[in-house]
Amino acid sequence: MLKKQVGFIGWRGMVGSVLIQRMTQEQDFNRFNSVFFSTSQKGQIAPEVINGNAILQDAYDMKLLTEMNVLVTCQGSEYSQRVLPQLRKLGWKGFWIDAASYYRMEQESMIVLDPINRKKIDAALNSGIKNYIGSNCTVSLMMLAIQGLINADLINWISVMSYQAVSGAGANAMQELLQQTAILDRDVVATGDILETEKAIRLKSQSEAFPCMNFMTAMAFNVLPFIDTVLPNGQSKEEWKIQAELNKILTRADLIAIDGICVRVPVLRAHSQALTIELKKTVSLREIETLLSSANPWVRFVENTPQETAKYLTPMAVTDTLNISVGRVKRTNLSNRHIQLFTVGDQLLWGAAEPLRRMLNICVMEQ
Ligand code: HSE
Repeated sequence: MLKKQVGFIGWRGMVGSVLIQRMTQEQDFNRFNSVFFSTSQKGQIAPEVINGNAILQDAYDMKLLTEMNVLVTCQGSEYSQRVLPQLRKLGWKGFWIDAASYYRMEQESMIVLDPINRKKIDAALNSGIKNYIGSNCTVSLMMLAIQGLINADLINWISVMSYQAVSGAGANAMQELLQQTAILDRDVVATGDILETEKAIRLKSQSEAFPCMNFMTAMAFNVLPFIDTVLPNGQSKEEWKIQAELNKILTRADLIAIDGICVRVPVLRAHSQALTIELKKTVSLREIETLLSSANPWVRFVENTPQETAKYLTPMAVTDTLNISVGRVKRTNLSNRHIQLFTVGDQLLWGAAEPLRRMLNICVMEQ
């Protein structure tokens, strides 16, 4: 069988790099011919992969792009918005697999999270849908974490509070957090008086010269309960995406009501979320554990103890793994039908790169 041509755009950024790493690990590059595109470095050397074109191609070369069976882009919404309509206008019928949010809610786009919505993806493929978009990172991580409860149709509503790592805002945001930490370490001399030291750190963090280009405030020793822009209803755009995308991914007719507050925290990588869930009926904690841990191979159920939590339920514990830890599962004082849990997963893996990698394999191997 003739190998398909797959083009990659935006493969050097954080999500793109993690995607290429995962594909290399899984030997995905054996399955197709790869062409690497660049918006600024055409003619330079492409990454060394099996069945790969050695030279970087121009990411705005519409003719060459239309020769690809599949395009995978992590270049961002601006690129997607500019390029995809031109390709379709030229009659390109290939698959567009995209990490950016721009086309997620379009009717002719499918949000991909195949462990949850494989049937819906198959139906979309059969009906000729060509645009397959990764969901917001917190949405994919949460849905995989609670897949057991979703599958059992147990959820009435969810209140979710996120604790999102600075890498969700890009590599520069990570650099800035490290820079802030280094400046504080260099300039603030710790004295025996801990309150004096705290004051010195605070004043330094609030000073004019302190580097705060990415979040409008210091992230070192701080949290910021706002991610993205504000909407007329008071939600942030990040919060709006949760209900919109989760319900688009779901195959059920009835919607799950969900809302919360998205918070940026000074963690480098991996997003955490604390959920309060109203169940449709009372279910034993033992049964909930079984449902959660048997829903997919990535959930790691964590016993509700301080020791197990510290060991397995932190960003550090899951970073650079496909594990999605779920713990602190408990009943609340609100009622027997209200439970709480905490979950954490690597937002660059299951939150971004992995669903795209799996969708690419579906397109290449099954279409
Ligand atoms: N919107 C997400 C964030 C990106 O800001 O954290 C996904 O990691």
